[in-house]
Amino acid sequence: MCGIVGYIGDGNAKDIIIDGLKKLEYRGYDSSGIALCRDGKLMVRKKKGRISNLEEYIAGEAMDSHLGIGHTRWATHGAPSDLNAHPHTNMDGSIAVIHNGIIENYVELREWLAKEHGVVFRSETDTEVIAHLISVFYEGDLTDAVYKAMEKMRGAYAIGVICAHEPDKMVAVRKDSPLVVGLGDGCNFIASDIPALLKHVRQIYLIENNETVVLTKNDVKLYNAARQEVKREVFNVTWDADAAEKEGYDHFMIKEIHEQPKGIRETLTRRLDDERNIKLDGISMTKEEIEQFNKVYIVACGTAYHAGLVGKYIIEKLAHIPVEVDIASEFRYRDPFVDGKTLFIAISQSGETLDTLAALREAKRKGARILSVVNVVGSSVARESDDVFYTWAGPEIAVASTKAYTTQLACMYLLALYMGKEKGVLDDLSYHRILDELLAVPDKLQTILDNEKSILEMAKTLYRREQVFFIGRGLDSSVSYEGSLKLKEISYINSFAIAAGELKHGTIALIEQDTLVIALATQNFLFEKMLSNIQEVKARGAYVVGLAKKNNTEIEKQASQVIYIPECADEITPLLSIVPLQILAYYIAKLRGCDIDKPKNLAKSVTVE
Ligand code: F6R
Repeated sequence: MCGIVGYIGDGNAKDIIIDGLKKLEYRGYDSSGIALCRDGKLMVRKKKGRISNLEEYIAGEAMDSHLGIGHTRWATHGAPSDLNAHPHTNMDGSIAVIHNGIIENYVELREWLAKEHGVVFRSETDTEVIAHLISVFYEGDLTDAVYKAMEKMRGAYAIGVICAHEPDKMVAVRKDSPLVVGLGDGCNFIASDIPALLKHVRQIYLIENNETVVLTKNDVKLYNAARQEVKREVFNVTWDADAAEKEGYDHFMIKEIHEQPKGIRETLTRRLDDERNIKLDGISMTKEEIEQFNKVYIVACGTAYHAGLVGKYIIEKLAHIPVEVDIASEFRYRDPFVDGKTLFIAISQSGETLDTLAALREAKRKGARILSVVNVVGSSVARESDDVFYTWAGPEIAVASTKAYTTQLACMYLLALYMGKEKGVLDDLSYHRILDELLAVPDKLQTILDNEKSILEMAKTLYRREQVFFIGRGLDSSVSYEGSLKLKEISYINSFAIAAGELKHGTIALIEQDTLVIALATQNFLFEKMLSNIQEVKARGAYVVGLAKKNNTEIEKQASQVIYIPECADEITPLLSIVPLQILAYYIAKLRGCDIDKPKNLAKSVTVE
């Protein structure tokens, strides 16, 4: 989703901002732009498409400046175009604004600005109203004008504002959209995400909701909605900037696929003491509290939601608590049955997904205990939760989530084991059996990764397909959803997943000669049933790729090609079976020449509804 970078200091603002924007490319965007303050005027340049288009456009222009803002836009209001790209300015071009989020009442504000103030709009965006609003209230004090404009605006936003009449100042605001401030030596920054700043600073202020920031080159001041100054602890970024680089891999996605054994190992082992008891650092739930939960709600979006589907199965099985899994954008508008005895689990890699955050707030309002499973430290979801269970996946840059998913699964297993044990419903033998299985996962995953070439060979036989069905039963059906999403989002193949038992209730009508079906059959107790489902689709002419555990070679009689995963307990298979599907999706997309790390229309961090 949109990326924001702003700089004030003695360095070259243009280069620093463009470089920062490139670090935010992974968020997804369709145009970019920059505004620089120079000789008492603002220079604004914007271009549709990649940042390289903008660079070409401004190459050779004298643009030295010590104050500027830049933006990568992911279109919501108005098509991707040069005109709709940010920054947007007021009528005389003295105020420039970048914005991440949505101004919900922008139509009303547009009408008011046009009617009462004669504003002529140049773009179709909601953002342009912010520049004009600030301008209407501007009487020589940018901060004051921003505050007054905010009183009129409804919606979610992080904005950065500069003004030609105040060349030593930048103002930024956060309301429901992420914003961080980087603290440099003789320079300061704003950004929507930490990676944009890591080249320059490690000390960060995490801006809270409804806070306004006023930056000069030597100072940063934070104010709350009542305009009172607030103090903030400095957050020191400990992870390495290199972790956000490709390290010789062709794409971030394949690098991140390969990082899964490490991520899962970290997520698991760091939470076990010498007696192999699970210790959940950062989680203060007591045994009594766990005992009184009568329901768990897992709420998330996309891949994180798919991790929740596995979580439901595991928590119900190991901890004997009923679990509902919901899509965040549905949960928040449904008046769900949540109360003080509900454990609400929000799963989010970025911790900034607006729908997940809104669902969390709704559950909190109803008295639920909030536990989040989050990858980005200090993110909004993490900060608004009672307890945070961090996935130690490291930064995930590729838009398609891989290592975040498997580490989210690892958290689900640990949580289920922990709650099962605390509640006394899981005996020691079962606890240790599952734990042993979990601890063996990283090495088993490595064997799948070492065998990557065979999946590439398989991809070569499949990449021209335009339609795929994923089927599975039990845990395999949850993994089917994720395998299908991975394939469609990066290869643009029309891919669809369905619980295998549901096929004959409608979807089988679509199976015809040579239709590709990927059948997951990793559950021993459901293996025969899956073989029947495979026969059903084969009888209609389907071309079947099977996925099974190593010893279940029976599948070869039914499937044209087979992917094997190492032997493991049925409960554990999602951690292994998703990985060959990620690799298959990756190579299929690569063979189709797709922009794998930045698929069209998608954003890494979905900070609008
Ligand atoms: C797909 C993908 C998305 C995200 C979803 C939620 O590969 O990455 O479906 O899982 O947008 O994002 P987070 O986890 O950041 O809340």
